Amino acid sequence: FVSGTQQTKPQHPAADSALVRACRREPVPHTPVWFMRQAGRALPEYHKARNGVPMLESCFMPELVTEITMQPVRRYGVDAAVYFSDIVVPLKAIGIDVEIKPGVGPVIAEPVRSLADLDRLRVPTPEDLTAIDAAVRLLTAELGATPLIGFGGAPFTLASYLIEGGPSKGHELTKAMMYGAPELFTALLDRIADITIAFLTTQIDAGAGAVQLFDSWVGAVAPEDYRRYVQPASAKVFAAVASRGVPRIHFGVGTGELLRDLGEAGADVVGVDWRVPLDEAARRVGPGKALQGNLDPAVLFAPPAALDAAVQRVLDQAAGLEGHVFNLGHGVPPNADPGQLARVVEYVHEHTRTGS
Ligand code: CP3
Repeated sequence: FVSGTQQTKPQHPAADSALVRACRREPVPHTPVWFMRQAGRALPEYHKARNGVPMLESCFMPELVTEITMQPVRRYGVDAAVYFSDIVVPLKAIGIDVEIKPGVGPVIAEPVRSLADLDRLRVPTPEDLTAIDAAVRLLTAELGATPLIGFGGAPFTLASYLIEGGPSKGHELTKAMMYGAPELFTALLDRIADITIAFLTTQIDAGAGAVQLFDSWVGAVAPEDYRRYVQPASAKVFAAVASRGVPRIHFGVGTGELLRDLGEAGADVVGVDWRVPLDEAARRVGPGKALQGNLDPAVLFAPPAALDAAVQRVLDQAAGLEGHVFNLGHGVPPNADPGQLARVVEYVHEHTRTGS
């Protein structure tokens, strides 16, 4: 063969970042850190930038999205940016009447109750997602070698909002459909999977260096029901983006009993909340996956010395992992002190540096 004519695929600019390396279980110069919900209400500069623009409108304004996404990167020195958007943005993009009520969450005007309602849930076209594509292109140009984490909502979590019409503690209507109309329920999750696939592939093709599927509320489901009604739709999402070659992270809250099943849905990295120590989580997930987590967000309100001790405990529990991405066990609380978050980043970097 003639080596000069060989085509090598250009490397992703973030392929050698600590975040991507940790997701791939490769050696890292330090444990990478980012925070779920790192952009947003904890930062005074966020309130200034949003300046009265409704949440979901702001998500369709590429310059504003870029500014808000960059704010925590500048302030905290985190190892990744998280695309400023929301899990309901692709629903808004296809014309679903959805709004985010401050202090409440997503509210859907016409909830999904029947097979006929699925017609409104069409898969977004590239035209529907032009503002998403534009924002991610602006962002990745500005970020260079720092990865942008793209994300989407997982089928179960989005289905809960669509069926309940808003946030729910018990997910009663969702489960009533799951048990009472399983064919409708699985058709809905399958449709949402296709919507999320369009949202994620747009972000990856515009330059996102990793993606996370947020299944925030899946911890409400029993393992047997998860495997039967939920896992196939989540697995479809991971399989559909696999060939694009960026690491895939899978996160949910209260998933102690689901960790192995979550891993088996196909992601490269399993996100863990603070209820399960990372060494125990690794036993449950099994080999071949990196883990992400899992500092209790409430510890951010403790004095600095107690915060340091809690961070160190996470690092100790992560010591034997194949790959570790440091994060909170859930999102940054809106009233967290940004100084405490910056302290966490510095502590993790300082105490995990390998000198390589
Ligand atoms: O920095 C980041 O993490 C990126 C931005 C991001 C937002 N939402 C912005 C946002 C991400 C990754 C999300 C995902 C999301 N949205 C999830 C999964 C993550 C999780 O926390 O479990 C969920 C469940 C949603 C739905 C949603 N959107 C909720 C529950 C809320 C909070 C409502 C409230 O006011 O308490 C939102 C609104 C939202 N999404 C805000 C932000 C910055 C707050 C908007 C504001 O400023 O009022």
